[in-house]
Amino acid sequence: MGLFNVYPLFDITPVRAQDVYIYDKDDNEYLDLYGGHAVISIGHSHPTYVKRLSDQLDKIAFYSNSIQNPLQQQMADKLARLSGCHDYDLFLCNSGAEANENALKVASFATGKKKVIAFNNSFHGRTSAAVAVTDNPKIVAPINAQQEVIFCELGDVNAVEKALETGDVCCIIIETIQGVGGLDEATTSFFDLIVTLSRKHNCLIIADEVQSGFGRTGDFFAFQKHKWTPDLIPIAKGMGNGFPVGGVLIHHDIKASFGMLGTTFGGNHLACTAVNAVLDVIESENLMQKANDTSTYFLDQIKEIKEIKRVKGRGLMLGLEFDFPIAELRKDLILNHRIFTGNSKNPNLIRILPSLTVQQHHLDHFVTALKKALKTRTS
Ligand SMILES: Cc1ncc(COP(=O)(O)O)c(C=O)c1O
Repeated sequence: MGLFNVYPLFDITPVRAQDVYIYDKDDNEYLDLYGGHAVISIGHSHPTYVKRLSDQLDKIAFYSNSIQNPLQQQMADKLARLSGCHDYDLFLCNSGAEANENALKVASFATGKKKVIAFNNSFHGRTSAAVAVTDNPKIVAPINAQQEVIFCELGDVNAVEKALETGDVCCIIIETIQGVGGLDEATTSFFDLIVTLSRKHNCLIIADEVQSGFGRTGDFFAFQKHKWTPDLIPIAKGMGNGFPVGGVLIHHDIKASFGMLGTTFGGNHLACTAVNAVLDVIESENLMQKANDTSTYFLDQIKEIKEIKRVKGRGLMLGLEFDFPIAELRKDLILNHRIFTGNSKNPNLIRILPSLTVQQHHLDHFVTALKKALKTRTS
């Protein structure tokens, strides 16, 4: 049997990883500034994470959601304390798409309505409703196209108001900072205005923090910089540091009922152990502050690179925009300098999404390599 061939692959086979480094089968070392797509938050194979997961495996790895699992409440308590989001309950699932799928469902259940407002360049995942609110027709199958979604330009309040006036809108879904779309972010006043509009039209707001959450931007959640209160907050990526896990923070105003949501694997013992270890390490190693400090240092170092026309994003969720397509540059960085970076829908933008444990000297190494790569490109 072959593998369903949906991924264009680099010819690199990682066999082990440590903190911000990945090692291939010939023991070549790669600097990972991509974090496996913003997933690695506390570093590859962090000793606390490895020990906790190994210990948990010796006890119990999984049982379904038909029994008591105190690890889930432990996670919810830690999450509330670290994020400051005390007015929410937590529903656990397995991925970012599932987190958004459940958030959209809850918004529809809670309001009894079915249309959704989403934004141009959004990415929310590949399951039924999540892909329908994603701005990429190529990945929307006919079966997904039945969802009623109105796409608006990010930042265009009039467009949002007009869409709400069509009626039957259950929610607005927005990435605080767009990930796959290329690191664009709406202003605080835009968030304030859509909150006011949503209240007026009895519609909820979902802040998709799947990529920007768990300390990546230097705040626990990226929306917190804008000081507003989402109704639903889907989370995933950095949450499990590689263990597949997702969840939704659901505001206390929304009431649960038995059977409203459910999953076999969500919130299993191993997943909870992974997340509890991640939260403990973020706190004990002060990783949000470190993300801020390292980011400030990095932004200062890249100021002198004249080929970088714009820097987008915050903390360790950054996009470096050039005035040429970066595909070859990125390939050069991986194959010749052994540095992983990310790309996005914007062909001119390199994404930097390292573990929050990344240090100044790692970024110095990247800056030197980038300068060399840019030189060979122009010579
Ligand atoms: C903002 C955002 N939401 C949702 C998703 C989907 O997450 P997953 O791939 O875990 O389903 C992603 C993945 O890149 C994302 O960046």
